[in-house]
Amino acid sequence: QSIDAIFKSLGKLYFGTCADSGLLNNGQNAEILKADFGQLTPENSGKWDTIESSQNNFNFGGLDTLVNWAQSNNKLVRGHTTVWHSQLPGWVQNIRDKNTLTAVIQKHVSTEIGRYAGKVLQWDVVNEMFDENGGLRGSVFSNVLGEDFVRIAFEAARKADPNAKLYINDYNTVEKGSNYGKTTGMIKYVTKWIAAGVPIDGIGAQAHLMAGESKNVKASLTALCAVASECALTEVDIVGAAANEYVETVKACVDIKNCVGVTVWGVRDPDSWRASQNPLLFNSGYQPKPAYNALVSTL
Ligand code: XIL
Repeated sequence: QSIDAIFKSLGKLYFGTCADSGLLNNGQNAEILKADFGQLTPENSGKWDTIESSQNNFNFGGLDTLVNWAQSNNKLVRGHTTVWHSQLPGWVQNIRDKNTLTAVIQKHVSTEIGRYAGKVLQWDVVNEMFDENGGLRGSVFSNVLGEDFVRIAFEAARKADPNAKLYINDYNTVEKGSNYGKTTGMIKYVTKWIAAGVPIDGIGAQAHLMAGESKNVKASLTALCAVASECALTEVDIVGAAANEYVETVKACVDIKNCVGVTVWGVRDPDSWRASQNPLLFNSGYQPKPAYNALVSTL
C-alpha cells in the first residue's frame, strides 16, 4: 500500500511531492509519482522569475505541464508560490512606489492563481516572509508596503480562486521548538491577520530538517495548526533520512486533526536540492529507502 493510500485511510487529503517537467518526463520517476504520491507541487515552475520574468510577460508553459500531468493522473496540486523574496525578478525588486507594487502584486497573483482556478487545492500565496526572530523579513514587499502586502496578496488570491485554500508558508517554524522566535512570530501575525479578515486558510511548515530536529515538530506544528483552519507540512526532507526521524515528522501531521497532508520535497536523492545530504525517501536507483518502509509499516 502506498503512503498516499495510508494517508487517505487516516482521513488526510494526500501524501505528495514536488516535481516539474524534467522529472515528469523521466519514466522511472513518473512511475513512482503515479504509484506513491497523491499530490504534486511545482518545484520551480510556479515561481515569479519563471511566471513573469518581465512585466506582463507571462510564461505558463512549465506550470501548465505540471498541472495537466497531475490532472490526467488524478493527482491533487499545491500551488507554489506567488509572493516570495527569492527567485524574484529584478524588475519587481526595484519597485519603490507603493501603488505600483500593489498593482504589480495584484496582477501577478490574480493572473497566476486565476489561470488554474478550480484545479489547485492549495496555494502558497506568501512564502518565507518572516525572519528568525519572528519579525518581517526585509524584502521589496515588506520594505515598500510593510505587512500590508500580505493582505493585498491574499485578497487577490481569494478573488482569483475562491475555492483554493490559501496558505502562508515558511521554514524553520517546526525545527526549533514551539517557543522559537520565528514560530511564535508567525503565530502572532497570522492570528492577527485572520482576525482582521485577511483570507488565510492555512499555515504551511516546510520542514527541511537537520539531524535531531524531528523531536520538535509535533509541539511546534500543534501550536501553528491551532491558529488557522488547516495546516500542512509542505516541503519535508531530512538530512540522512533517518527512518525514526521521518516517522516522527510525518506522524506529527497525522496526529493533528486539521493537518491535511504532507509533501516531501522530491522523490529521489540525486534530484533533491539538498542532494549531498541524501534527504529523500528513494535512492539513486529509485529504490525505497528504510524511511519509506518505516512509514508504510508504522503509520
Ligand atoms: C528550491 C528548489 O528545490 C530548487 O530546485 C531551486 O533551485 C531553489 O528552490 N523553500 C521553498 C522552495 O519554498 O521553493 C525551495 O525550492 C526550497 C526552499
